Amino acid sequence: MSDPVSYSGPERILSGMQPTGGLHLGNYLGALVNWVALQDRGAECFYCVVDLHAITMPHDPKSLPDAVRRAAAAYIASGVDPEKSAVFAQSAVPEHAELAWVFQCVARLGWLERMTQFKDKAGKDKERASVGLFTYPVLQAADILVYKATHVPVGEDQKQHLELSRDIAARFMRDFNCDGVFPLPEPVIQGAGTRIMSLKDGSKKMSKSDLSDLSRINLSDDAETIARKVKKAKTDPEPLPESVEGLTGRPEAANLVGIYAALEGSTTETVIAEFGGQGFGVFKPKLSELAVAKLAPVADEYSRLMDDPAELDRILSNGADRARAVAAPVMKEVRQIIGYWG
Ligand code: TYM
Repeated sequence: MSDPVSYSGPERILSGMQPTGGLHLGNYLGALVNWVALQDRGAECFYCVVDLHAITMPHDPKSLPDAVRRAAAAYIASGVDPEKSAVFAQSAVPEHAELAWVFQCVARLGWLERMTQFKDKAGKDKERASVGLFTYPVLQAADILVYKATHVPVGEDQKQHLELSRDIAARFMRDFNCDGVFPLPEPVIQGAGTRIMSLKDGSKKMSKSDLSDLSRINLSDDAETIARKVKKAKTDPEPLPESVEGLTGRPEAANLVGIYAALEGSTTETVIAEFGGQGFGVFKPKLSELAVAKLAPVADEYSRLMDDPAELDRILSNGADRARAVAAPVMKEVRQIIGYWG
């Protein structure tokens, strides 16, 4: 399915996050640091807050607009520059939903049935899940392709959805004989933090839906809270191993080493070279120091931005205008390809 197509448009980046719960260290290390790196490399970037996806699960309409502002503030506090990158709410660009419908008629039921995130989110009683939750990855494909995005920086858990986006693009071009209309978007899954695990259970992904706040570091946590969470993070009684292979079968230790490496922008090997043989009594305070140094400024900037919702709304509205200017002509092209009237 991933045979090269003759796409020759510009390099474009698109990614998004759900505005449910606050953003956390996993979102930051798995995605946001790469969003910023791509932006700073000069790529044309579109970073949306996916409020259409947010309603696939029960939600509170009263708090959704503010949740969108909070996510946008976290993006910017992490280094996304709204002058360089378009920061906007997905619902402000109707072309996402319009293209999603077209793609629902291209994607196959069997493809969606294989999506593991649906199985995880729907739980045991999948008959009661919304249809939107089932078709969620199709909307994600539309988010990407409505900008003809070529690269999508995400954490590892989004890999399967990205493969689906490529399949949908390829199938659309084959069905409608329009090779080259869409790029096959490449996932950008890089760095030591592509899969950050819970601080309380090294076998579970760090997630906003975890009931225990001690399981994650939120981007809004202050220095004291970060230090307390690192101190309370689950570990095992052994010192850190002398080689990376020694982390096998030690998920909590591997996670903390991975977090250190990702925060530092280095590798697991480097961290082990520095701390191998040391106990957690030594390593945890160092990790805590590094996490506070990197994240406390993010939390400060986040709270400064949240004090000025009018400015955030201005940024979101400006970002939506820029996004629409790119999405509208793509949607027009798609309308012609599929033979819509008018
Ligand atoms: P969401 O909101 O669950 O997560 C946002 C981003 O954070 C990454 N991430 C993690 N990375 C490392 N470790 C973790 N524990 C961790 N938890 C989350 C995710 O991989 C993601 O990059 N379906 C998407 C949102 C979306 C999207 C898109 C993404 C909608 N449309 C188009 C890219 C392109 C989601 O639910 O992400």
